[in-house]
Amino acid sequence: MRQIYIIFGAPGSGKGTQAELLADHLKLPSVSTGDLLRHEEKAETVLGKKVAKLLDSGKLVSDEIIHGLVKERLLKPDTKRGFILDGYPRDPEQMKDLFKQLQKTDNVQTAVIEISDKAVMGRLSGRRVCDCGETYHVVLNPPKRAGFCNKDGKRLYIRHDDRPEVVKARLKTYRKNITPMLRLAAKKGRVVLINGELPMAEVRKSIWNQLLK
Ligand code: AP5
Ligand code: MG
Repeated sequence: MRQIYIIFGAPGSGKGTQAELLADHLKLPSVSTGDLLRHEEKAETVLGKKVAKLLDSGKLVSDEIIHGLVKERLLKPDTKRGFILDGYPRDPEQMKDLFKQLQKTDNVQTAVIEISDKAVMGRLSGRRVCDCGETYHVVLNPPKRAGFCNKDGKRLYIRHDDRPEVVKARLKTYRKNITPMLRLAAKKGRVVLINGELPMAEVRKSIWNQLLK
């Protein structure tokens, strides 16, 4: 039986942060469509060039492209025991597509990290990221050496889509899609609501307590 965890949450709610913590703990892969797309963009693949403008403007990439990316990723052997989904599914169509790929014995659980728009703006204006996937915040989660990654020592940078006007557009899209997606998720398994405005360790505790019991 595969254990499948879906982490929902607005941009900047802490999906990536919490998905990685859960992945380390459970020794399951964290599958982030945002990271997969950014990887394609960085590698300047045909797909990467196609999606670059959408990523920078905060618009969603087509369901067709996402379907291909996710399908390929979920066929890898490390997903045999299960996986954690971060940033996918993103709209009801993707949710239905995911369900088609599930097996009867899969156990699906969903955590929704809740956060206000105001808190998101504060989080994303201070976010710094590394190509290796590590994420920091200049005040709330600073690296040991300012501007450099703790893990591989590389220089940190600001994501193109963390500009305030782009964050507002991303929030609007999320708020529009989350209600129908939650309805669908509740049909598949447990859905738990998490207060995402607590400190990182508290959010982690709350997710683990509710999903792993
Ligand atoms: P994606 O990469 O998925 O971005 P997102 O959903 O907008 O979410 P973020 O990665 O910005 O935030 P997060 O929730 O992971 O927060 P984080 O942990 O970093 O998607 C990017 C783009 O790709 C989309 O706009 C779209 O174009 C495309 N895309 C991706 N998936 C797609 C799909 N399925 N379909 C179509 N298009 C798709 O935390 C944020 C900051 O807060 C960090 O600095 C962190 O250190 C800090 N922090 C985290 N938790 C806490 C806490 N509890 N307290 C204080 N600070 C905290
Ligand atoms: Mg993320």
